[in-house]
Amino acid sequence: MKKDKKFIKEKFDKIVKRYDLVNLIGSFGQDKLWRKKVAQVLKSTKPPILDLCCGPYTLSIEIFKKNFYPLFALDFSFSMLYYGKKRISNYPIYPVCADAEVLPFKENTFGGISIAFGLRNLTNIKGALKEFYRVLNPKGKLVILEFSWPKNKIFQKIYQIYLEKYIPLLGGFLTGDKSAYLYLADSIKKFPSPEEIKNMLLETGFTEVKYEPLTMDIVTLYTAYKA
Ligand SMILES: C[S@@+](CC[C@H](N)C(=O)[O-])C[C@H]1O[C@@H](n2cnc3c(N)ncnc32)[C@H](O)[C@@H]1O
Repeated sequence: MKKDKKFIKEKFDKIVKRYDLVNLIGSFGQDKLWRKKVAQVLKSTKPPILDLCCGPYTLSIEIFKKNFYPLFALDFSFSMLYYGKKRISNYPIYPVCADAEVLPFKENTFGGISIAFGLRNLTNIKGALKEFYRVLNPKGKLVILEFSWPKNKIFQKIYQIYLEKYIPLLGGFLTGDKSAYLYLADSIKKFPSPEEIKNMLLETGFTEVKYEPLTMDIVTLYTAYKA
């Protein structure tokens, strides 16, 4: 499957209403813990914070609950932003409909940037990291949460069945769009390894680049700072 912005946008537009439910059931509740961890890492970050590929604000709200500063939440799917609008009515969270690869902000604007399960969907990862670097303040923090491929050979087999059979079945049943979840499995397998992502971050100019594998390595949390 080739990454194509139009295709990706259409997929997310279609699954919006059941997006969080599939995540919750599909990850057996783990996804909430992963996002809470990102929010914790950004807790003492200087505002403003930008949550990229925010979907229906699932992570943006967690971040706000931890550091209470207003934040910007960006996604290119208007449906996602519109659907989640009621959820943020009591929070100073400002939606921005734009492409995460061409950010509509000046350089040195944000104290922190988060992107959860979004980087994998971007067509030019290296270019996107440069763009995140540009809009971060010097010493600003980038936090990436993304799927990764488990290292344990036996677990790899189980995970492959889970990704290629269970998730498309569950996602297809709940959203009516099985192909969106087949795309998910494909994009996870094609996503660079944590070491490769770390090297890309270093090449971009980020410092103190670290990563932490979570839940049997199926998700990795990356942190990095603008020099
Ligand atoms: C898997 S969802 C993640 C949503 C949310 N961050 C979360 O933690 O659940 C990926 C989101 O990225 C958005 N997205 C994909 N490519 C994008 C791009 N180039 N620019 C902005 N948003 C993008 C999709 O519309 C979708 O809402």
